[in-house]
Amino acid sequence: MQTVTLNNGVQMPILGFGVFQIPDDETQAAVEAALAAGYRHLDTAASYGNEAAVGAAIKASGIAREDLFITTKLWIQHAPTGSVQDDTRRAFENSLSRLGLDYLDLYLIHQPLGDYYSEWRAMQDLHKEGLARAIGVSNFHPDRLVDLIDHNEIVPAVNQIETHPFHQRAADQALMRERGVQIESWGPFAEGKNNLFTDPVLSAIAEAHGKSVAQVVLRWLIQREVVVIPKSVRPDRMAENLDVFGFELTEEQMSQIATLDTGASLFFDHRDPAMVSWLGGRRYN
Ligand SMILES: NC(=O)c1ccc[n+]([C@@H]2O[C@H](COP(=O)([O-])OP(=O)(O)OC[C@H]3O[C@@H](n4cnc5c(N)ncnc54)[C@H](OP(=O)(O)O)[C@@H]3O)[C@@H](O)[C@H]2O)c1
Repeated sequence: MQTVTLNNGVQMPILGFGVFQIPDDETQAAVEAALAAGYRHLDTAASYGNEAAVGAAIKASGIAREDLFITTKLWIQHAPTGSVQDDTRRAFENSLSRLGLDYLDLYLIHQPLGDYYSEWRAMQDLHKEGLARAIGVSNFHPDRLVDLIDHNEIVPAVNQIETHPFHQRAADQALMRERGVQIESWGPFAEGKNNLFTDPVLSAIAEAHGKSVAQVVLRWLIQREVVVIPKSVRPDRMAENLDVFGFELTEEQMSQIATLDTGASLFFDHRDPAMVSWLGGRRYN
């Protein structure tokens, strides 16, 4: 598997398997199928409610721990103990225990909301103790990302953000590259919104290569050096989504896909006060 090298030297597989919105009782079977198909990089989150099922699949697979790359995410801490730093450590320990692991490959702050500076300080400690090989963030716009970098010791290794043909994030990626932060796409297929799977530009390119639209989208992201974590509960699609290393898009095809960018989210705006309040009010752990 092709990897990217994070800013602390850790190798991260450029393609993994996401488990958002897979119901808890279906997650173990889905992750077991993904591991059997050849995925070695898994992406979950405390807020997905399925870390234990991911852990059960890892255990059942018998795959050596060092051959896996496991990411989970910290939900916004509400400081019931009065210390966001202490609560972050407790949330980390809970995630680790649900996953049945003794370290993580990547631990992400899920949302740029609440007291994420305290969360980050706790995560820096977890990293220094060897409990998280890399730490990073998710859903950070460039201004928030730069502020976090400028006022802390460790530069996030990764920023996982919505990135797909209709929201391409080229300027964000350029800024992240300058600052040593790896871009990772969530929602590579925009969850099928905007009729992505029948889009005429993507379909024509897919036809030219004898590939599917899904494969073209993943290939386009990988050629841009964006880490991808497509989700599917179907073993045939899991295999299809892994099979994206045997062909290459031309510069012209890359430019054609660039024209699909709308520059806007298809999901939600992290700067909309109503959304900030809604997300901030959610409780997980
Ligand atoms: N950090 C964040 O805030 C955040 C937010 C969202 C997602 N994520 C992460 O990113 C991962 C991926 O994003 P996502 O799950 O939202 O959406 P996605 O990967 O863009 O799309 C998943 C959808 O595409 C379908 N699909 C998958 N492969 C396909 C194929 N080859 N052909 C046709 N349809 C296909 C799936 O259906 P089937 O399952 O029926 O195949 C599912 O409906 C998540 O699982 C999660 O790990 C992170």
